[in-house]
Amino acid sequence: MNAKQNTTKSGGTSGSGKNGPATEGGGEPMIEAIGLSKFYGPFAACRDISFTVNRGEVVAFLGPNGAGKSTTMKMLTGYLAPSQGLAKIAGHNMATDRLAGAERLGYLPENGPLYPDMTPFSLLEFFADARGMSQERKQERIEVVVELCMLQSVLYKAIGKLSKGYRQRVGMAQALLHEPDVLILDEPTAGLDPNQIREVRHALTRIGQQKTILLSTHILQEVRAMASRVILINEGRKVFDGTVDELDKNHAGLDEAFHRLTTAGV
Ligand SMILES: Nc1ncnc2c1ncn2[C@@H]1O[C@H](COP(=O)(O)OP(=O)(O)O)[C@@H](O)[C@H]1O
Ligand SMILES: [Mg+2]
Repeated sequence: MNAKQNTTKSGGTSGSGKNGPATEGGGEPMIEAIGLSKFYGPFAACRDISFTVNRGEVVAFLGPNGAGKSTTMKMLTGYLAPSQGLAKIAGHNMATDRLAGAERLGYLPENGPLYPDMTPFSLLEFFADARGMSQERKQERIEVVVELCMLQSVLYKAIGKLSKGYRQRVGMAQALLHEPDVLILDEPTAGLDPNQIREVRHALTRIGQQKTILLSTHILQEVRAMASRVILINEGRKVFDGTVDELDKNHAGLDEAFHRLTTAGV
């Protein structure tokens, strides 16, 4: 009932339990949502959302369909202009200093890459060129992400003809291409089969040791394995920000806590 807490503005400092690497790296803020709102006419897709993700944290961004997760992520990445508020990546204001922020940021949009006629290889080359990588670095990085995301067998097939799982992995490869230290991943496991979900989870656990990650997901069982902290939104508002253990403080399971916090007042 009373879990409508706001652990802290600077995030993660409450991580006292076993999931406590939250403050690693001295609490440098890498992802900052500062009073973000998005209005479509009279409708608020997001309303006054504030939180901070510090260096080295892996934070799960939860909420029912339509809660405003993708909208918040798009504002954080600079793809969507907020109606109110401010988004910062690695200290860069994404309204005024977007390119500097984008250099530090990898973003997996909600439906993966939108270039059905390109092959994974040409897409990665395209993004590498757009980011101004040298020929040498381009080759090296494409090799690394192709291996990391296991794209070898589909490298020269049209993206539009790939399965959802492969398309998601192409999106991941593109997000990781320039070796960003901040990742915003919108449902990276959506549409994947259980084996693919395992692979993504393992990859994220590996990657997450050096990076700052905000990821949205519907799979609550994944949260405990991947994230040290949870931010939960409902109907465009933040309703919880705390550790996984705090979310499940009644030990009734995360789905119970999720249900309680997202149906209150209905
Ligand atoms: N361009 C848009 N115009 C009008 N309403 C939108 C637009 N984009 C999103 N919405 C609405 O905003 C709400 C939040 O959407 P979204 O951020 O995609 O939620 P989530 O990712 O949590 O499922 C939904 O009700 C959605 O229908
Ligand atoms: Mg979404």
